[in-house]
Amino acid sequence: MNSPVDPTSTPAWAELENLHRSLDVDFRKWFAEEPNRAQQFTLRAGDLTVDLSRNYLNQQVRDTLVSLAAQVDLAGRRDAMFRGDRINTTEDRSVLHVALRLPKGAELDVDGVNVVDQVHEVLDREISFTEAVRSGERGGVTGKPITTVVNIGIGGSDLGPVMVYEALKPYKHDRIECRFISNIDPADMYEKTHDLDAETTLFIVASKTFTTLETMTNARMAKNWLINSLQSSGAIDGTADSRARAIKRHFVAVSTNAEKVSEFGIDHANMFGFWDWVGGRYSVDSAVGLSALIAIGPDNWQDFLEGFLAIDKHFMITPIAENVPALMGLLNVFYSNFYNAQSHVVLPYSQYLHRFPAYLQQLTMESNGKSTRWDASPVTTETGEIFWGEPGTNGQHAFYQLLHQGTRVIPADFIGFARPAHALTEAGADVHDLFMSNFFAQTQALAFGKTADEVRAEGTPEPLVPARVFSGNRPTTSILAPELSPRILGELIALYEHITFTEGAVWGIDSFDQWGVELGKTLAKNIAPLLTAGDEALMSQDSSTMSLIRAYKAMRAG
Ligand code: F6P
Repeated sequence: MNSPVDPTSTPAWAELENLHRSLDVDFRKWFAEEPNRAQQFTLRAGDLTVDLSRNYLNQQVRDTLVSLAAQVDLAGRRDAMFRGDRINTTEDRSVLHVALRLPKGAELDVDGVNVVDQVHEVLDREISFTEAVRSGERGGVTGKPITTVVNIGIGGSDLGPVMVYEALKPYKHDRIECRFISNIDPADMYEKTHDLDAETTLFIVASKTFTTLETMTNARMAKNWLINSLQSSGAIDGTADSRARAIKRHFVAVSTNAEKVSEFGIDHANMFGFWDWVGGRYSVDSAVGLSALIAIGPDNWQDFLEGFLAIDKHFMITPIAENVPALMGLLNVFYSNFYNAQSHVVLPYSQYLHRFPAYLQQLTMESNGKSTRWDASPVTTETGEIFWGEPGTNGQHAFYQLLHQGTRVIPADFIGFARPAHALTEAGADVHDLFMSNFFAQTQALAFGKTADEVRAEGTPEPLVPARVFSGNRPTTSILAPELSPRILGELIALYEHITFTEGAVWGIDSFDQWGVELGKTLAKNIAPLLTAGDEALMSQDSSTMSLIRAYKAMRAG
């Protein structure tokens, strides 16, 4: 295993320190002095137009970030990923979500197997299944067409499909609705199933490992709900045979673990596989996306995959100085490590993208929230900024105050679309312009602010002037695309995958494991029996946990 370069030991890092000290960020001045600034720092990746000009960026900073990328060998690590090297060192795995979007006929050999053939073998089966569900040919046990697809999964087996389904609602099949159950809180199961007709419901149990407590518990509950509902409506009788037939028609699995899937009672024909080289948070374009695929159909899914591929190619071949994900990732490092930016906000100006920030939280924070580098040595810098966000304009009336006048540096990504995706084209077209004028106004206000003199000129009484001043110089990146189509959604996801990759590569961390989630899982399993056991069983616990469980038990008892 090669050791990562310590980024802080590179000449580029020292140069960034100097630049950080000497850079006098003044967007008003910079834009006045550089008439071409917007053009100089506006780049294209696929269908995305990305304006980086309102970042703490000048030619020297860009050059130094490019040098940093060279000195930590970003390109080498990127190529290793695309080649299928086992760059997920702690799990000894390749990292090949990029293989999920390679076209049929492409070749990517890993250990003597062309993984692209494997990908398309599963995709072809998914497509046949999807077509049969959409046409109504593959109905439930009583032959009625499926109207609701319920995905049961959590983390990457939930956040990706739900985000894509919500984002692409205008593309969904008229008859088919998707729902998503993730939380082990039984309220989630209740709310998503209580009004459903079991005869027309299809469950997809999505779990890479097929051992995740939440998913397996919910899947068991769903099985009981289905059988009870079908029996009580008289759709099936109580024989083991009819129950098995019902499971066969109403449950499919998406997993890498065939053995556990069949133990659960789902047969191989109803399982869609993927591979250990697809991380959960990188899996939405594998069979994990099956619910969304059923909703939007195979042609749209193909466009979605092509969007990913367009950005993969861009990331692979574009020089770093023009490489959008690489530059955005490098800028994030600059903000995190030199400006002490603790968080990064993502603001989609699209209601359809309301789950995108939540999706990005897993992608970025499960990937880069690490204190150890890939050779087991400690990290040498801060890592893993907090990603958060909400769609504009809602966020404007909630937390933008902090973005405009707070004391912290919070780099913001604004994502907007030229054409509305909804069907209200006539009635909504001008409203879309009004909506997007907020995008342009907010990014302008964050960059250029409002001076005390400008506030005074409005007749503001002197004591109120300071509270009404906007300092400006708040960094934003504006991402514009023609419309929120399947292709462009694929491009956006791949963009953030590669931004995340870039940051991890600079910090020298394995962005593809997630050991940090294990301890809590193990403790929950140990604690579960204590909630119903006698008081003496609590003695093994620390005093805080012990008294909390006692209080809980007392409240539970009524
Ligand atoms: O606990 C974290 C995690 O392993 C995520 O990385 C993953 O996306 C999620 O749990 C669900 O895992 P699985 O798909 O195996 O159920």
